[in-house]
Amino acid sequence: MALIEVKVPDIGDFDEVAIIEVLVKAGDTVKAEQSLITVESDKASMEIPSSHAGVVKELKVALGDKVSEGSVVLVLEAAEGAASASAPAAAPAAVAAPAAPAVVASAPVAAAVAAPVAASGPIEVVVPEIGDFDEVAVIELLVKVGDTVKAEQSLITVESDKASMEIPSSHAGVVKSLLVKLGDKVAKGTPIVVLEGAAGAGAAPAAAPVAAPAASAPVAAAPAVVAAPAVAASAVATLPAHQPGSPSAALPHASPSIRKFARELGVPLAEVKGSGFKGRITQSDVQNFVRNVMTGGLQTSAQQAKAPAAAASEGAFPGLLPWPKVDFAKFGPIERKDLSRIKKISGANLHRNWVVIPHVTNHDDADITELEAFRVQLNKENEKSGVKVTMLAFMIKAAVAALKKFPEFNASLDGDQLVLKNYFHIGFAADTPNGLVVPVIKDADKKGIFQISQEMAELAKKARDGKLGPADMTGGCFSISSLGGIGGKYFTPIINAPEVAIMGVCKSTIEPKWDGKAFQPRLMLPLSLSWDHRVIDGAAAARFNVYFASLLADFRRIVL
Ligand code: COA
Repeated sequence: MALIEVKVPDIGDFDEVAIIEVLVKAGDTVKAEQSLITVESDKASMEIPSSHAGVVKELKVALGDKVSEGSVVLVLEAAEGAASASAPAAAPAAVAAPAAPAVVASAPVAAAVAAPVAASGPIEVVVPEIGDFDEVAVIELLVKVGDTVKAEQSLITVESDKASMEIPSSHAGVVKSLLVKLGDKVAKGTPIVVLEGAAGAGAAPAAAPVAAPAASAPVAAAPAVVAAPAVAASAVATLPAHQPGSPSAALPHASPSIRKFARELGVPLAEVKGSGFKGRITQSDVQNFVRNVMTGGLQTSAQQAKAPAAAASEGAFPGLLPWPKVDFAKFGPIERKDLSRIKKISGANLHRNWVVIPHVTNHDDADITELEAFRVQLNKENEKSGVKVTMLAFMIKAAVAALKKFPEFNASLDGDQLVLKNYFHIGFAADTPNGLVVPVIKDADKKGIFQISQEMAELAKKARDGKLGPADMTGGCFSISSLGGIGGKYFTPIINAPEVAIMGVCKSTIEPKWDGKAFQPRLMLPLSLSWDHRVIDGAAAARFNVYFASLLADFRRIVL
């Protein structure tokens, strides 16, 4: 079987154009002349057909690539007898598509309207030389009577089976009458609009030859017949024959300018319902789509896929009332203060995490009576060392052990995949005068209580002094937020994405606990574990808390 490289044929000035649609994929069987890709310039789009029938072995282009004549589109394993006679059997043959859009000498046409028209009388703008793009349907009217148009502004979009292009105005002026309607067939010379007040508005390059007879003459009272300057991209190509059932049938119909408009707004055209002629997507369809998305009536598929991340980051909260604007000074004296840099950054992150992550919080208590006694004893013994052992250091070690036992807590979501980490970096929330930061103790599994306590003290000082660097605050697997030194009972910590869980700890208090015979005074530490319900389920969270609490209750268990 011959391997054939199918290349972009001579497509005239349609050069260095972007691929906006890839219509086939590896493994597809294509017929000769079947469209392979769609390319688009500012003003026109066209499909590039296959030179041969066969099976697509390899695609050499991707969406967004720029191609010109000679660019290899794909390698085709030609069907029996289908390969070009000239194609060498062994090596891929470089064959231009036979049905290549023949190039019309468009350059001269491009400059169809030359001399500025001196008079201000009505001007009839006609379809210029557009090559074999002949007897094509008007699929879009881009102006209406009364519109003021600039020279080169697109007036109509015409479409053949394989391409669409916009026909620009030769002159500036006000549209006095529209001479075509949707569905009309037009060809070179067909009048499109009558413009008024077009004095000196000749648009096209002055040096260019004139296509229409009246174009160069000053226009007097009678409407001058002026060919519209060639389609800007000069994509006036003879178009390949229509390939029935080509994949393009399913593609949204929209003119290049509408595609560009949609692209600029990030609108997925495939999701826009066209209200134009034959279901064509118009500018107002795109605008309505955006309006609907912004007001909550619609979500793009991309938004649904990443929702509500998109909503969070793009500010679209469907259905929500706008934030109240209140003149507080009406009610009493006020002063204004800028949010600190840390507050702004952490606020944005917390907001995203709160909105995006389906949080659930499980509360539990750990009996730390013995552990606290041990901690106090350790600190007494090591008074001179200068390192104060904190409860948080024990909790960091307990967190490592719990992460080892429940690996889905030491994970991050990456699309449809869970990234499971084999390292144990634990973050701890630190309160600073400027706001909340979360420095990270790296490789906490390899460090002892003293080292962790010491590093924590150093990092907390750095945090308060505003000296933490990015390296101090990145790479965390799991965070602990301790309000134990302050007070409170339980709270709902916000997960520090991309982590999937966070342990919140409040102030331990002596509580009466029933030991089966009597109430005993026990030091109880309130735990609040928030977890990402996309990754973790409630039973796992409860087990995590129970295990975590059991380690604090009897720290010897950590070595089991
Ligand atoms: N229960 C009772 N007392 C506790 C406690 C707990 N869970 N945790 C700490 N304490 C006590 C300590 O024993 C210490 O007492 P002492 O001075 O008598 O020894 C006192 O509270 C202060 O502890 P602290 O120095 O704050 O140490 P720490 O290891 O508990 O905390 C930081 C260190 C950096 C985490 C802490 O200073 C901090 O910034 N916490 C706030 C975190 C935060 O803002 N979280 C909210 C995020 S939403």
